[in-house]
Amino acid sequence: VHGSELARSLPGRRYTDADVFGAELERIFARSWVHVGRSDRVGRPGDYVCPTVGGEGLIIARGPDGSARAFFNVCPHRGTRLCDVDSAGNAAWFRCPYHLWRFDPSGRLISAPMLAELEAAGFDRASGGLRPVRLQELHGSLWVSLASEPAPLAEQVERTIRRRFGQLDTFQRYGMERLATGAAREYEVAANWKLVVENFMECTHCGPIHPDLCRLVPAFRSGRASYHGGEAGVELAPEVDAFTMTGRSSRPPLPTLAAGDHRRFHALVLLPNVLLVLVPDHAVLLTLFPIAPARTRIRCEWLFDPDELARDPNTVGDAVELFDRINRQDWAVLERTQLGVGSRAFAHGGVLAPSEAQIVDFYDFVRERLDGAAP
Ligand code: FES
Repeated sequence: VHGSELARSLPGRRYTDADVFGAELERIFARSWVHVGRSDRVGRPGDYVCPTVGGEGLIIARGPDGSARAFFNVCPHRGTRLCDVDSAGNAAWFRCPYHLWRFDPSGRLISAPMLAELEAAGFDRASGGLRPVRLQELHGSLWVSLASEPAPLAEQVERTIRRRFGQLDTFQRYGMERLATGAAREYEVAANWKLVVENFMECTHCGPIHPDLCRLVPAFRSGRASYHGGEAGVELAPEVDAFTMTGRSSRPPLPTLAAGDHRRFHALVLLPNVLLVLVPDHAVLLTLFPIAPARTRIRCEWLFDPDELARDPNTVGDAVELFDRINRQDWAVLERTQLGVGSRAFAHGGVLAPSEAQIVDFYDFVRERLDGAAP
């Protein structure tokens, strides 16, 4: 709904219905490039993580050659899940617990108890490896695509950045590809993933539930400043030097920033599943993993200049505490919202303020992709 007509939020069932959720997994998460975290999640050869993307369990592992690869977390022998969902670690190989087939981090089948017999019967060992999934590293992050012919990743990401800032330069000044993860937390939130995205796109809730955020960025107190703050971002409070609990930081601004960035706060959404905050001395990167209509796993990564982290890895606590608090405030109110949106009283949805046009764009993004595939 555009123009002078007041925009409405989505009908309640869009946040609760299993068929809607299934269509979103299939048509959004199985067709776009999906962010799974920072490259340093699997920084060393043998490192692996096992996220769920588009309803599929995946293994992401860095091979001895230094390349990160993704595979379906499915044993090709009889279909058994290889690794526990959300497990992570470092391994020289993956062994299926059922009949002990073993695979290396490049996905190759390296041994199986009856391999000689199978091969004698015509089994092709080279084709018996783990089924690969497309993976690319861009801007220091891991992205996967379940699509058979995905559009280029850079196109997907940069189109959004250009729409947000009018150009790529602002984003590029933060040097995302070189930032290192100083801390990470994972949350299980009993709310639909779209509520999490919408919440990040508006700040009329900031005054009521985020006192620390409003202390540091007073423009958010009125709720009128978009959380995204337009192309120029939003100013930190005059008495504050950094986006931390204390408003101070021992870390200087990121070295590639321009002077005009030194007191700025930017937020952006890279659909379908990245929420990103850029502040002078760090970045906060949230990755959404929709698990069920009313369940979203959220990974939050705090990114810093690698030299600053090496200098003193213990100074990140002030930044982590701030955004962890903001996260928990959001998750609590979103879980409460999830409890109401399924009510018959919300069958036709709610209402959006005129300043929340971004949420309307997000609905359009979802609607276009669902294209009648869900009620
Ligand atoms: Fe995995 Fe048999 S199902 S080894």
